[in-house]
Amino acid sequence: MTTFRPRNAPAGDRATRPAKRPRGAFRGLTVPGRGQDAGSVGVVTLKGVCGIVGYVGHRQALDVVLGGLHRMEYRGYDSAGVAVLTGDALTVERRAGRLANLEAAVDTAGREAFAGTAGMGHTRWATHGPPVDRNSHPHRDGTGRVAVVHNGIIENFAALRAELEASGVELSSDTDTETTAHLIARAYAEGDTAGDLPASVRAVCRRLEGAFTLVVTHADQPDHVVAARRSSPLVVGVGEGETFVASDVAAFIEHTRQAVELGQDQLVVITRDGYEVTDFAGEPADAKPFSVDWDLSAAEKGGHEYFMLKEIEEQPDALANTLRGHFSSGRVVLDEQRMSDQDLRDVDKVFVVACGSAYHSGLVAKYAIEHWCRLPVEVELASEFRYRDPVLDRDTLVVAVSQSGETADTLEAVRHAREQKARVLAVCNTNGAQIPRESDAVLYTHAGPEIGVASTKAFLAQVAANYLVGLALAQARGTKYPDEVAREFGELEAMSSAVAKTLGTLEQVRALGKRMADSKAVLFLGRHVGFPVALEGALKLKELAYMHAEGFAAGELKHGPIALIEDDLPVVVVMPSPKGRAVLHSKLVSNISEIQARGARTIVIAEEGDDRVRPFADELVEVPAVPTLLQPLVSTVPLQVLAAEIARSRGYDVDKPRNLAKSVTVE
Ligand code: M6R
Repeated sequence: MTTFRPRNAPAGDRATRPAKRPRGAFRGLTVPGRGQDAGSVGVVTLKGVCGIVGYVGHRQALDVVLGGLHRMEYRGYDSAGVAVLTGDALTVERRAGRLANLEAAVDTAGREAFAGTAGMGHTRWATHGPPVDRNSHPHRDGTGRVAVVHNGIIENFAALRAELEASGVELSSDTDTETTAHLIARAYAEGDTAGDLPASVRAVCRRLEGAFTLVVTHADQPDHVVAARRSSPLVVGVGEGETFVASDVAAFIEHTRQAVELGQDQLVVITRDGYEVTDFAGEPADAKPFSVDWDLSAAEKGGHEYFMLKEIEEQPDALANTLRGHFSSGRVVLDEQRMSDQDLRDVDKVFVVACGSAYHSGLVAKYAIEHWCRLPVEVELASEFRYRDPVLDRDTLVVAVSQSGETADTLEAVRHAREQKARVLAVCNTNGAQIPRESDAVLYTHAGPEIGVASTKAFLAQVAANYLVGLALAQARGTKYPDEVAREFGELEAMSSAVAKTLGTLEQVRALGKRMADSKAVLFLGRHVGFPVALEGALKLKELAYMHAEGFAAGELKHGPIALIEDDLPVVVVMPSPKGRAVLHSKLVSNISEIQARGARTIVIAEEGDDRVRPFADELVEVPAVPTLLQPLVSTVPLQVLAAEIARSRGYDVDKPRNLAKSVTVE
């Protein structure tokens, strides 16, 4: 723990406003373009993934900040730190490793040393420098009077570091962040910005390249905390006699549901009486107030051992909430529509771009959208999309799917698509995140906060939302009659109870998971919409149980992967419906008998009453019979539970798998 004494100083801000960058225009509609919300388009490619929280109010800042960090830890858990303005002092503690290490250090130092009602904290996913104490945030200037926490990457930090070192400053960490602490301290000490913390931060922000959310405290200024953002998330929480800033509303939802979303290149000063927003030139700026529509219980484990297990059980609600309100007056409606119906009618090609599970949700949707809309659909990993020069034009619809709305690869894909004049529709679980802000239309999944790093309820909600996009397109293009759209929507709505019924398999799958915990590898097979489910099952197992797992299209087996089959190798097979897809069902039964003959142990996920497959299943997990295209919504659920249980049996932290973070904001 370190404590530093303050100095006093005057105020003043003589920043000049930077030239306005042009807005993008699209088919006569004005949409956010580069320089507005999309201000960082094409400029920022790398961002760190961290959770930050700041507080000024009437409670003990340490308690508020640590509470907030607990709910931010999903964003990164390589190290954590706090700084509290303790009257006339700045008291800092930081530790590598999980938040528990920081709390132990705070307890050792004595919580009374952190008595104060303003402070901030950070939980880190390392980008610059290994996760050791000296690289943990907060970072301070040489005197220790200024403290900074940061989410993002300062791309010109090497030049800033060289400049600081040339002027005799000694840096004590490997991070990009530390440079900002020294620069802010210098701005605060001299020149036009002397003694004015907001002005000093603004002056430094104007020099930074890259993506950042910064939260800054100065020992001289115990009554306020300053925060700024460019292309990294930052929300303000407005309470009674207290104000918060954080990467995510989850950090302060326990105290207030009134929030304010900051725009691009904005700075906020929070005090216990409220907040003031300016742009980086010091001019007053508008920020968007909103009310958070979920409460603390949604962000807490509610008696479950892990968030992931709770989130698996929340899937029926996630589906129902995602669909709610999207069929009105006989029509499918989106949330934010900055495209006309004519634009939708003109679409001649669809790309779905996304990463990880969100990508798998796109693979599922391809089957439905092509079938319903007679439109070619390409599903692309966002990280590959813009590097292979995809053919895009104004009649291309790009559907960007992202739970967090922050994923750097997907965000860059969105920017690339819009540069090529394609229209972008975001499917996102996070209100006001960067991806929806930069898109032409938005459909929010209302899965609620997903804290477990593995995507579960968000994935199911994405599948449902992607289907809604398909129905909206079919409706606009007239490839489905209104009564057909209504019927498909009704079937989608009914999936909430089908998923609830599927949760009845939970105990069987848990027991199975325990028995499979010592397996070296697992293969997953599927056909048609079962193929992306197989990929999703394999991804879950890899990320949670650190086990080799591969998903294959079952028909591909004989073209190579069948050589992997050996005695006792567990192979999970996702069966199509024997009624809905009779031909595929027969073929898959043949595939299973081929692998069983070669010694594989078969775990079969099949529709209830599927007696044909029973003899070929060493373990049969039955899921409710549902329309073919909707099967992934039920067949994915046992695979989530299986991965979680295998990981748990192996002693791993199911919510925080190694090397991962919830929002991947680095390319
Ligand atoms: O926030 P996003 O939906 O954009 O995240 C995409 C992937 O990083 C995410 O789905 C990841 O693959 C999950 N950890 C998988 O469980």
